[in-house]
Amino acid sequence: MKSKVTVVGAGNVGATAAQQLFSQGNADLILVDVVEGLPQGKALDILESGPALDIDSSIVGTNTYEETQNSDIVVITSGIARKPGMSRDDLLTTNRNIVASVVKSIVEFSPNSILIIVTNPLDAMAQQAFITSEFPKNRVIGMAGILDTSRFRSFIASELKVSVDSVRGYVLGGHGDTMVPLIGTTTIGGIPITDLLSKERIEQIITRTQNGGLEIVELLKTGSAYYAPAASIVRMVNAIILDKNEILPCTAYLEGEYDIDGLFVGVPVKLGKNGITEIIEMKLTQQEHSELKKSSEAVRTLIEQINS
Ligand code: LAC
Repeated sequence: MKSKVTVVGAGNVGATAAQQLFSQGNADLILVDVVEGLPQGKALDILESGPALDIDSSIVGTNTYEETQNSDIVVITSGIARKPGMSRDDLLTTNRNIVASVVKSIVEFSPNSILIIVTNPLDAMAQQAFITSEFPKNRVIGMAGILDTSRFRSFIASELKVSVDSVRGYVLGGHGDTMVPLIGTTTIGGIPITDLLSKERIEQIITRTQNGGLEIVELLKTGSAYYAPAASIVRMVNAIILDKNEILPCTAYLEGEYDIDGLFVGVPVKLGKNGITEIIEMKLTQQEHSELKKSSEAVRTLIEQINS
């Protein structure tokens, strides 16, 4: 039997993730959105791609949660982007309320599901989903590390004209400008990046990675990235439904690992059919460790702001 995956939010990220998941044929999908007709229309369009792709999966669009019953995985992308005249606090509060309300409905219909949180500010929204759902920590995971790492790896691959597959590395920390590309363990075909690129060039790649989301927003002008975010969601869903025990950078609830307690922060985790089965504690340089702590403090400040 195929896994059942619900995607909440039929905007660019949610619909693209649904389309990519559908085209792989490993899951039957439910696409939920509050806007009448939107999830139904997009789901029908995706369904009609089935014969052309030779895929027999199903996808249903809906404005309510009944159809999501007994989902194995629920991807939450719903939320709003900041609009003119809106304060950052307004955005935080609005998205917190949206995520809390979506999670309540999900818990009612799929109490055993694994939640993948995508709504920004990512780390804080994962924390909210954890609190609202009362799920164990292995079943609440934030998507950001794969996206940030993917950007980092793609910049290095283009710079050195090598396959992305030859570039190994991680970006850890919160999904914001304090994220931490780990230079100490980044290798290209096994060779440390520091042997191949100058300090200045590496610094530029770090900064570009940290501003990766903003770079796309500035180019698009009317929205933010969605192809790479969707691909990152798919990577997580596949690791879970195919029980791969894949080690991937994800936003996870830490209880003392990396010297961080009671917070969702991006770290390498082992991902399989039960969600996060292990937090991988890498050996960091002193600087990387202090940058990760700093990044986690930025997440803590945001959470305190939401709850104040
Ligand atoms: C990004 C936004 C979507 O990084 O978080 O592109």
